[in-house]
Amino acid sequence: MGNASLVLFAAAAALLSCLWVGPAVVQAEDPYLFFEWHVTYGTISPLGVPQQGILINGQFPGPKINCTSNNNIVVNVFNEIDEPFLLTWYGIQQRKNSWQDGTPGTMCPIMPGTNYTYQFQVKDQIGSYYYFPTTNLQRASGGFGGLQILSRDLIPVPFDPPADDYNVLVGDWYTKGHKSLKKLLDSGRSLGRPDGIQINGKSGKVGGNDEPLYTMEAGKTYRYRVCNVGLKTSLNFRIQGHSLKLVEMEGSHTVQNIYDSLDLHVGQCFSVLVTADQAPQDYYMVVSSRFSKKPLTAVGIIRYANGNGPASPQLPPPPPETAGGSIAWSINQFRSFRWNLTASAARPNPQGSYHYGQINITRTIQLVNTRARVDGKLRYAVNGVSYVDPATATPLKLAEYFGVPDKVFTYDIMKDVPDSSNSNVIVAPNVINGTFRNFVEIIFENPEKTIQTWQLDGYSFFAVAIETGKWSPEKRKNYNLVDAVSRHNIQVYPGSWAAIMTTLDNAGMWNLRSEMSENAYLGQQLYISVLSPARSLRDEYNIPDNTQLCGIVKDLPKPAPYTI
Ligand SMILES: *[C@@H]1O[C@H](CO)[C@@H](O)[C@H](O)[C@H]1NC(C)=O
Ligand SMILES: *[C@@H]1O[C@H](CO)[C@@H](O)[C@H](O)[C@H]1NC(C)=O
Ligand SMILES: *[C@@H]1O[C@H](CO)[C@@H](O)[C@H](O)[C@H]1NC(C)=O
Ligand SMILES: *[C@@H]1O[C@H](CO)[C@@H](O)[C@H](O)[C@H]1NC(C)=O
Ligand SMILES: *[C@@H]1O[C@H](CO)[C@@H](O)[C@H](O)[C@H]1NC(C)=O
Repeated sequence: MGNASLVLFAAAAALLSCLWVGPAVVQAEDPYLFFEWHVTYGTISPLGVPQQGILINGQFPGPKINCTSNNNIVVNVFNEIDEPFLLTWYGIQQRKNSWQDGTPGTMCPIMPGTNYTYQFQVKDQIGSYYYFPTTNLQRASGGFGGLQILSRDLIPVPFDPPADDYNVLVGDWYTKGHKSLKKLLDSGRSLGRPDGIQINGKSGKVGGNDEPLYTMEAGKTYRYRVCNVGLKTSLNFRIQGHSLKLVEMEGSHTVQNIYDSLDLHVGQCFSVLVTADQAPQDYYMVVSSRFSKKPLTAVGIIRYANGNGPASPQLPPPPPETAGGSIAWSINQFRSFRWNLTASAARPNPQGSYHYGQINITRTIQLVNTRARVDGKLRYAVNGVSYVDPATATPLKLAEYFGVPDKVFTYDIMKDVPDSSNSNVIVAPNVINGTFRNFVEIIFENPEKTIQTWQLDGYSFFAVAIETGKWSPEKRKNYNLVDAVSRHNIQVYPGSWAAIMTTLDNAGMWNLRSEMSENAYLGQQLYISVLSPARSLRDEYNIPDNTQLCGIVKDLPKPAPYTI
């Protein structure tokens, strides 16, 4: 009981796609995976303290989706909790299909007691991802789970098949639960410090009697896919006595460097290979907070099959961190991450951005994040705009599609360059126009004392630089224009900036947000509307028939669908 009902229906899918003729149809030869998920509350104790959690099919973390490049994923989600609910398929590019992105700016929430069936294709992607709820800080109570995309059979993978493939979802954790945390933010306060760190819904202690999380057989090599699903805390990941060979990061095969430990910021994922080459006994997997005044640590046991003896209480030390929270080590590690240009894999942008260093930049968007007080309450802004969902409770994408954006939001109230002479903060829905197929550079500048991470839905981007200080155009000479990792999340250290580049070739409405939950909830996010001038199925799918309508578009007639 509780397992995701998963059926591989290649034959049924082929049959269906005979009925759905037309170019909107996903390719008949790509198999379908069907899931039925029931979202409920249940008691969980990730830090040993029982609390209300969000379960999927009775599980916390939720079921893992194990799929292959180009599979079609169909998930019928039944909302059996007392709040509106949406899931986002984090890092899945949803090509031509922002209809299924699961952010409140693109979709109406699934109301309590109802269900909605997501359908999307994991087109041209491989790697390690996860999903989580985007409504009401619910991710602070669970509702997340792993999603892995394997390479298709004929596509070589740049390492031997591992003996097993383990998911490790780690993150900071608050015992308060999402409703109390939301109340804190709504009242204008901050979340404060987390209570601990969880590893796959547990928090082991040194010397505790915890069950092993993973088992390895001596001599074999295992893949660990590790994601930081937390709310705000950067983490460091390491395994006693074992080195980590980095092989994949957010959908790209990397140059296979060896590390003693890896920093993992909020919303980021990587895969490491670990060979069981030590004396057969237990070892601790260690996850500790970075850049925090009072460091938090959790451990989990990795057991050798037929091993003998407990893990040593001596944990490997965290990376050097001075009292002020030195970021130099972490920046250096970021710079060591390189894309393996010779590894064959599904490429995120097949039409040429592989040689991204030779493409002329057509637009530079420089985003400076700030903290403000508006009517006495804490807000976060980018370039003077602090995002709120529209007062009409109408998703931005639907308002645009139904031809009534003016009733819901105003395009381009935020400028591409910050105005340092004006410290006013506007609280409003924040939507900027992107020009289809423009090659854009986005600079994130973080003058604050706390770390940021930024996520762009619908795309992967080249993470070309991170430096301390302020950005200026001459910093472009320091960009990695050859083998920067193509990914979808980047960290921005305190008092630092980061630069990314991407081609806006995926039509839709896409959320660009701080992945720090408090910051995003209180305004550090926006949407980029990328419209294809052709208005064609080649560029964007039609709105799905089962799309839920709400707000002012609820009873509007649907515009004529695209036919070519
Ligand atoms: C994922 O699915 C593939 C088959 O598609 C299977 O070979 C593999 O064992 C599965 N892996 C996990 C970790 O479930
Ligand atoms: C809700 O689930 C039923 C099956 O139980 C399905 O037929 C229906 O299409 C689902 N509704 C939506 C909006 O996806
Ligand atoms: C990159 O991938 C190729 C092809 O699979 C592999 O042979 C090579 O070892 C990898 N290079 C590095 C530096 O990891
Ligand atoms: C890029 O811009 C330069 C200078 O404006 C121009 O000479 C060059 O042809 C452009 N390259 C491409 C690929 O458009
Ligand atoms: C942005 O796109 C919308 C919708 O196409 C259009 O109405 C508006 O004029 C555009 N704004 C700018 C500044 O280009």
